[in-house]
Amino acid sequence: MDQQNSGRKRIAVIPGDGIGQEVIPQAVKVIQASGANVALTDFDWGADHYLRDGVTVPTGGFAMLARDFDAILVGAFGDPRVKTNIHAKEILLGMRFKMDLYANVRPVRLLDAALCPLKDVEPKDIDFVVLRENTEGVYTDGGGVFKQGTPDEIAIQEDINTRKGVERIIRYAFEYCRSHSKLDGSPRSNVLMCDKSNAMTHAGGLWQRVFKEVSGEYSQITAQHMYVDALCMQMIRDPRQFDVIVTNNMFGDIITDLAAGLQGGLGMAASGNIHPGKTSMFEPVHGSAPPIAGKNLANPFGAILTAAMMLRHLGSAREADKIEAAVLEAVRLKKTTQDIGGPLGTREAGEWVVEKVRR
Ligand code: NAD
Ligand code: IPM
Ligand code: MN
Repeated sequence: MDQQNSGRKRIAVIPGDGIGQEVIPQAVKVIQASGANVALTDFDWGADHYLRDGVTVPTGGFAMLARDFDAILVGAFGDPRVKTNIHAKEILLGMRFKMDLYANVRPVRLLDAALCPLKDVEPKDIDFVVLRENTEGVYTDGGGVFKQGTPDEIAIQEDINTRKGVERIIRYAFEYCRSHSKLDGSPRSNVLMCDKSNAMTHAGGLWQRVFKEVSGEYSQITAQHMYVDALCMQMIRDPRQFDVIVTNNMFGDIITDLAAGLQGGLGMAASGNIHPGKTSMFEPVHGSAPPIAGKNLANPFGAILTAAMMLRHLGSAREADKIEAAVLEAVRLKKTTQDIGGPLGTREAGEWVVEKVRR
């Protein structure tokens, strides 16, 4: 390996569908402007590719990503022309499941009070993270439909929870709490497990037992429990109380859209799909937003903050800091898209951050 390539991180870029194709190019420009030592390779996996030749993931695609790349940056999948959503399932859930990216890390941070729909809430009040189990639960899509189309039709949707799967995400949550501080520098100190064990007793029982056992190993961290319905109410009543939340795949999906609402909407929320030591995947929380796609309306900041999260994961903390600071300034100066109150388009908001990061 020559001098120039040493330490260079290889990133696969998959913009996907809809606004993914608009926000990811902005995130890519920002990465390049940050000076991070990366080599980017584009992949056109998504609805167009699928409709053209029937391929969602080329043969050996996941093995190639794991072998040839240090990280993957993804936009979104979902296209009204693909009614079955099969490509999203095979590409997005395929990466999560087949690459075993078991921790879906979704930070929830309020950059500016003006972005939060709640009154009297300051940025310092919202700085928590949701750790969503990412390889099991109802997302395994086990089950079936019987006697379809008859009055006796039966639909079964299985909820798969393994001891190994539950334990590793709960352990990840305690390790995350121990090793990450809040934005103001204060240490994290609480892990809250969220379930519905009062109604879903079999899966909930396993989560309860494992949580009790693992929390016992972390005497410096307080362990707390909330049912998911109560948690939703608390999240909009008083989000200050949350620190690290760990939950299953389904509840994690739902509560992170709710949490995105606290941050200024889906356009602001970042996420990582992580397996420590393996090639991990980073994507904004939002989807392909078909109604606004192709109109230069989509907020690129969720994708840009996702890029910063990816760079931090790859060891480029200085570049990540620069990007996050530039987005923060853009928000404060209202150099943003319309969804969060600014006058700019997707490209213009991205370009503003690029210029700030380059300086
Ligand atoms: P969505 O996140 O695409 O959109 C929900 C709402 O938020 C819409 O009003 C949309 O306009 C708005 N929004 C989302 N991102 C925005 C942005 N960056 N800037 C401004 N506004 C933004 O969710 P949906 O409408 O439920 O789903 C649309 C499609 O996306 C579906 O096919 C769904 O399955 C898919 N989806 C994919 C992912 C993913 O690939 N990670 C995530 C969620 C949904
Ligand atoms: C997300 C999305 C996906 C999920 C969909 C597109 C399958 O909503 O990343 O939050 O439910 O995980
Ligand atoms: Mn979701």
